[in-house]
This record gives sequence, structure tokens and C-alpha cells, in this order.
Amino acid sequence: LMLAIAIVILLVLGLGIVLELTTGKHAVKHKPSLAASYRSAFHFQPPDGHWMNDPNGPVFYKGYYHLFFQYNGLAAVWGNITWGHAVSSDLIHWNTGPIALAPDEWYDRQGVWSGSATVLQDGSVVLVYTGLTNQSVQVQNLATPVDAADPLLRQWKKSPQNPVISPPPGVNNLDFRDPTTAWLAGDGRWRMLVGARLAGSGAALMYSSPDFRTWTPTSAPLHAVPGSPMWECPDLFPVAHNAGLPLGVHPAGTPYVLKASIDHTLTDSYALGSYDAATDTWAPRGPDDVSQGRLLDYGKYYASKSFYDPVKGRRVLFGWIYETDSQQSNIRRGWASVQALPRAVELAADGADIVQWPVAEVDALRKHAATLRNVTLPPGARLELPGVAGCQLDLELAFTLPPQDEAAAPPPASAASEPSRCSPEGSAGGGALAVGPFGVAVLAAGAERTAAYFELARNGTAAVARVCTDLRAASLAPDTDRGVYGSAVRREGDGATLSMRVIVDHSVVEVFAEKGHTVVTTRSYPLGAMDQEARVFLFNNGSNSVVLQQATAWSMNSISISSI
Ligand code: FRU
Repeated sequence: LMLAIAIVILLVLGLGIVLELTTGKHAVKHKPSLAASYRSAFHFQPPDGHWMNDPNGPVFYKGYYHLFFQYNGLAAVWGNITWGHAVSSDLIHWNTGPIALAPDEWYDRQGVWSGSATVLQDGSVVLVYTGLTNQSVQVQNLATPVDAADPLLRQWKKSPQNPVISPPPGVNNLDFRDPTTAWLAGDGRWRMLVGARLAGSGAALMYSSPDFRTWTPTSAPLHAVPGSPMWECPDLFPVAHNAGLPLGVHPAGTPYVLKASIDHTLTDSYALGSYDAATDTWAPRGPDDVSQGRLLDYGKYYASKSFYDPVKGRRVLFGWIYETDSQQSNIRRGWASVQALPRAVELAADGADIVQWPVAEVDALRKHAATLRNVTLPPGARLELPGVAGCQLDLELAFTLPPQDEAAAPPPASAASEPSRCSPEGSAGGGALAVGPFGVAVLAAGAERTAAYFELARNGTAAVARVCTDLRAASLAPDTDRGVYGSAVRREGDGATLSMRVIVDHSVVEVFAEKGHTVVTTRSYPLGAMDQEARVFLFNNGSNSVVLQQATAWSMNSISISSI
């Protein structure tokens, strides 16, 4: 009988293997699953999967960085939103704590939505968050640590005074949310902004408080732009070159960034301007106002929030990188969304704009560098970067452009009329480009590749440089995004060099052009280009040669995230 049973078992196993071979299942069995392959290795994601959106309340407290985030612990879709919580001592290695805030009061029964953290003068920390009440009204609420001595801030209690702010007249009950970190103005009172839509304008409403409990609106919104959709997640912060500045009162003329996440567009739009603390007014510096031009990121990045890091004296920005394939794919994977690498935000050297750069702590994850120097990339070049492969990479590339006269080719009018619009990687801009596209293809295997590149178009007598990411061949899967993203990039230095840093973390590709003047973050879900099979190519699809001055490529270590 035993022999008969053994024969039956062997037959069943054998049949299984034959079936697997014929269906191809066996072949893919030894590869990591696609779900595992798309998960980031060194960007923050909740360890147990599920849904995440906006970063909330980033703050430094008693030796630790804290990051809260919009979190659904039940499914990989938006809903049942709570505040998840993660703690780090270096902004890179995270552990998650218990849920910080859950919807358990009438004033947040339908949602514990986005908000911020403020460190008060006595060193204690307060969260201000939006609650969606049982009557579907968006209100602002306070929460404080149960044990202020706990540096990990594991437990939170909501204020008995909640809600502390309700929608003002003229603001719809569902258009009033996402309070900023507060700051002390010169009159000794706190100020705070709340995102809103008011009389047909996207708006940052301003509130003032003597004690952080009683809040009254200031005489006018800090700023509003007519015709703009609702402003979600506003942020206002001062910027300096080579430094960060805390919120507070700064000398007149200090440049500020006012940012709004523009509802329905999934873009973070900002303007550089001045905030006059004496009159609580804000004015854009240039012709473009918030929601009219510049984006913090030209890819899939939203609901960003900054904080001042007192340890390193810098302003650090977090942002939500969302998924761009279908909801079914998210559900199948069991998770959705990644937090972008924290970025230091500074005023550019010439003061005309800001630059964003991954915080220096990211560099500690680098291992195994490969370098290539001084290689000419003639038209049509395609050169594999030797010694580099995989889905966890940090690449720094610098290119030298051909002399002006060689690159001069009058473009058709279309290139001039849309100076910041990227052309697809392979098209050479329909002949409109003076130089490029040239750059790097990552996550490349078979027919799949994600191209990050520069191109130069003539715009009258000036050349406009653009940085672009082309996803048209990023994945053969039917439900993925195939867009071309990017924008004009302001050029550093003499204009003869263009540089980019490309950070690849499985399905995340972050491109920082020209020291962070323009940033493009996108998602790629290749079917074949996984792990060591993913290769890196330099290319030049333009009609002029460019020289690769230097390429340095590091493979990147993983972080592990567990609960505390
Ligand atoms: C932005 C946002 C916020 C809101 C939160 C809800 O992505 O819509 O306005 O507070 O997400 O999860």
C-alpha cells in the first residue's frame, strides 16, 4: 500500500511539473513576483503594505525624525484613512509605530485627514489635522502626545477642545483642509494656513492664535488665485542659499515658497515670493503665481510637506509618489504608494528659483560604484554602462554639449511656442531639436526601457534645455502609464554642461536635473526588466554628438522597515 501511495504521489508531482512547464508557470516561479519586484527597497513604504497617500506632520523631536502619513491599513485603496507613523534617526531608515490617529470622534468620524506638526516654545509637539465630521464637514483638530517624554511619540490624545476651527463663511464644508505647521509671528501670536476654495479661487486661509487653542481668521486669506481649483496641502516656508530657515519672522526681503497641491491635477505648484509678517500678506516675485507655472516635480508627485530640520539646519521636503497603473494591479499587489526620498530645498545660487536634492543621508546607501569618463556619444549612440545593472541605482551623469554653432538648427515654430514641452525620446523632436535627446535608459531589458534625457530646442536665439522622462516603452503591461514627462531646466554655470542624477528604486525613477532645478519623478512597471536583468544604457538620438564627461553609478543598499 505504501508503495502504491508513493507511486501516486510521484505521478501527481510529475504531472504538476509537466503542467507547469507547458503553461510557463514553472519558468516564472524562480523569479521574484512582480509585486515584490515593484516594491521599493530604500524609499519609505509601510511594511505591511496597504494604502498610503500624503506625508503628514514631519517633525524632529527628542532625537528622532517623525513622519506620519495618510494610511489605510485595511486595503490597497484609499479609504478608512488614519495617520500611520514612522520614526527614523537619519531620514532614511524607518520603523513604524502604532497608528497615531484613527477616526473615533464625531469630529473625525469620516476621516483623519492631512495635517502638520508644530514644536511649541516649551519644546512640546502638537499635531493639527483635518477631521471629516459625522455631518461631512471638514474641521481642524489638535492632538498631543500621551507621554511627552517618549521620544518615539507612540501614543496620541485628541484635544477636548476639538474641533478648533470650522469652515468660515463662503467656504464649502468639503473645501477646507490640510493645516500647515504653525509659526510665531512678531506679535507673539501663532499663524497657520489652511487650504481652501473660496469664491472661485484656490486659497490659503490664514488663522492666528495666542495660545494654540483659540484660532481666529486673519482679516484676509494669505493668498488666493482666481480660477484655481481647491488648494490642498498648502505650505509656506522661507528659503536661503546653502541653508534652510525655520518658520518664524525673517528680515524683509527673505524669499519664501508658497506651495499648493492643486486639487484634481495631482500636481504641486509653487511660486517664489515674499511674505510680509507685519501685514500677513504674500506676493509672488515673478509673473507666475501659485497654480500657474512651476511645479515642484513634473512627474507623479503630490501633497508634499516640508519641515525645518534643526539638526542639520535645512528645510526638508517629503512628497507622495502615487501609483500609475490600475487599481486592480494595486489590489493584486496588496500595496499602493511610496514616499519620495526626502529632499533638501534651498534657494538657487542666483536666487531666481529653488533647487531640490535628495538629503545627503541617501549617499550612505551607495555601494559598488562604476565610473565612465570622457566618452563621445555620436548621433545614434547606444552604449551599455558597464558594471552596473539592477533596480536599485543612483546615477550621476554630466554631459558636455557641442559648440553653439554646430548645434544651431532653426526649429519649426511649434518648438518655440511650447518651450517646456518634452518630445518623445526617439523622435529627435521631429527635427526641431538642436541637440538630443540624449541621456540614459534604465530598467531596460528586451523591449522595455525607461528613458531619462535632455534635449535642447532653439527658442528664438536662445536654446531651451529640457529634462524629460519617457515611459512609452517602460512596460509591456497593458494598464501602465505611457506618458512623456518633464519641463524646461534652468542651466547652471556656463551652459556647456548638463548634469542629471537618476535614482532608480524598482518602480520609482526620480530625476534631478542641473543640481535639482527641475525634478521629474515617475513610475515604471516593467515585466522583464527586474533585478539584475535590468540594464543601463547611455544613448544619443540627436543629430549632434555630445560628450559624456562622467558617469558614476552606484548600486544601492536596501533598508528594512519593521514595527517598534
Ligand atoms: C491630498 C488629500 C488631502 C486630504 C487627504 C485625504 O492628497 O486629498 O487634501 O487631507 O488627501 O487622504
